[in-house]
Amino acid sequence: MQNVLVIGGGGREHALCWKLAQSHLFGGVYAAPGNPGIAIAARCLSPSTLTPSGYLTLAEELDVALTVVGPEAPLVDGIVDIFRAAGRRIIGPTAAAARLEGSKAFSKDFMMRAGVPTARAITVPSPHDAISHIDSFGFPVVLKADGLAAGKGVIIAADRAQALDALPKLPPGPVVIEQYLQGEEVSFIVLADGLTARPLAATQDHKAVGDNDSGPNTGGMGAYCDGRILTEAQSTDIMNSVVHPTLAQMAADGTPFTGFLYAGLMMTPDGPKVLEFNVRLGDPEAQSLIHRLDSDLGAVFLENEPLRWKPDPSVCVILAAHGYPGQVRTGDIISGLETCPATVFHSGTRLSANALTTDGGRVLGVTASGPDLQTAIRNTYSAVNHISFSGMHFRTDIGRKGLKRW
Ligand code: AMP
Ligand code: GLY
Repeated sequence: MQNVLVIGGGGREHALCWKLAQSHLFGGVYAAPGNPGIAIAARCLSPSTLTPSGYLTLAEELDVALTVVGPEAPLVDGIVDIFRAAGRRIIGPTAAAARLEGSKAFSKDFMMRAGVPTARAITVPSPHDAISHIDSFGFPVVLKADGLAAGKGVIIAADRAQALDALPKLPPGPVVIEQYLQGEEVSFIVLADGLTARPLAATQDHKAVGDNDSGPNTGGMGAYCDGRILTEAQSTDIMNSVVHPTLAQMAADGTPFTGFLYAGLMMTPDGPKVLEFNVRLGDPEAQSLIHRLDSDLGAVFLENEPLRWKPDPSVCVILAAHGYPGQVRTGDIISGLETCPATVFHSGTRLSANALTTDGGRVLGVTASGPDLQTAIRNTYSAVNHISFSGMHFRTDIGRKGLKRW
C-alpha cells in the first residue's frame, strides 16, 4: 500500500487526514507537523525545518506516493516547484501561480487582464499614497494590504475619518483601494489540473468574529456546505465567468494553475464578483466540505474520481480562544471531547502533561450534518455544548443565512 503526506497542522489538514485515512488507496497517512487531533488519523512528524526542502526530505524518507498541501505559505514559498523537480507528486500550485493569493496587487491586475468580474480598484505603492485616492471610491471603501495577512489585512472604512485612521496601521508596501460591494459571500473552490477544473460544492464562511457579522474579521468562525447555496445555473455561470478565464489566462502566462483554486465571491445584483483568490482549500470551508464529501478523496486526487456529495448539509462551528482575533491566550484546558457526538477537527490544540490545551486562536471545529440545514445546525450546536475551556467563544448563527433557501 502507498502512503500520503499532508502538510500543515490546522483544522483543514485534520479534515484532509481524517478523509484520506478512509481512502482505500493509502496504507499510511502522515502529517507534518500535524496536531493532537490529526494524530488520531495520521502519524505526525516534524521535518528538520518547516521549509519546502525540509518537507521534501521527509517525503523522500517516507517515499510517499502523494503530498497534499494545506496552507498557503509553503505554496508561495515554492514547495510544489521543488517537489515536481524531484519527480514527486503533489497537490497545489507552483510559486508563480500562488501569487494569485500571495499578492493582492498581482491578483487584481491579473483579474483585469483575464476579464474576471471583480470590484473596481487601484493599487498605490504605500498606505500614504492612498490618502489622495480614497474619495474617488465613495464610502464605505475597502483597503487591502498587498501581502499574506491571514485574513486580517483588509479594512472596510465606513467614512473618510475611519480610512485615515486605518491607513497608518497597514503594513508598509502597496495597498489596493477597492470599491465596496454588497451581496452575499460564497466560497467557490475548484480542483484544477492546469487546463480544466472540477468544482467542489459551494460553501459559506463566516468571517466576522461576532453574530450577525459584527466585529473584526477572523480567519473564519464557521462554515456550512449545502447543495442549495448556489443553483446549477449560478455554478455554471461562475465556471464560465471566473474559473475558465482564470485558468486560460494562467496557462497563457506560462504559469498554469494546478491544485485548489478558491474564489471568494460576492453575489452582487450584477452577478458574481471575485473578492479574492486563494490557492488552497479554505479553513473552515474544508471541514464542512470534506465532511459532506462522499467520494474517496485519495481516488479524487490519484484516479480522477468524480466529486460526489452526500445530500445532507454539513455545518462546522469554530470554537475560538480567549482574545481571538486579537491577542490570543493559550494553555487553557479543553474538556468534553470524549462525549461530544460530532466530528471535532482540531485547529489549535496541544497535548501537555496529558491534558489537551488551547494552542491557537481557532481551537476546534465542531462539525455535524443533518437531513436538512436546520437539523444540521441543531446537531452541531448540541455537540458544541459538550465542550468547554476557559475563554471559549463561538458564533451562535453559523448556517443561519442558508435557512431562507429551505
Ligand atoms: P479578502 O481577504 O479580500 O477576501 O477580504 C476579506 C473580507 O473582507 C471578505 O471576505 C469580505 O467580507 C470583505 N471584503 C473584501 N473586499 C470587499 C469588497 N470589495 N466589498 C465588500 N466587502 C469586501
Ligand atoms: N476561510 C477563509 C480562508 O480560508 O481564507
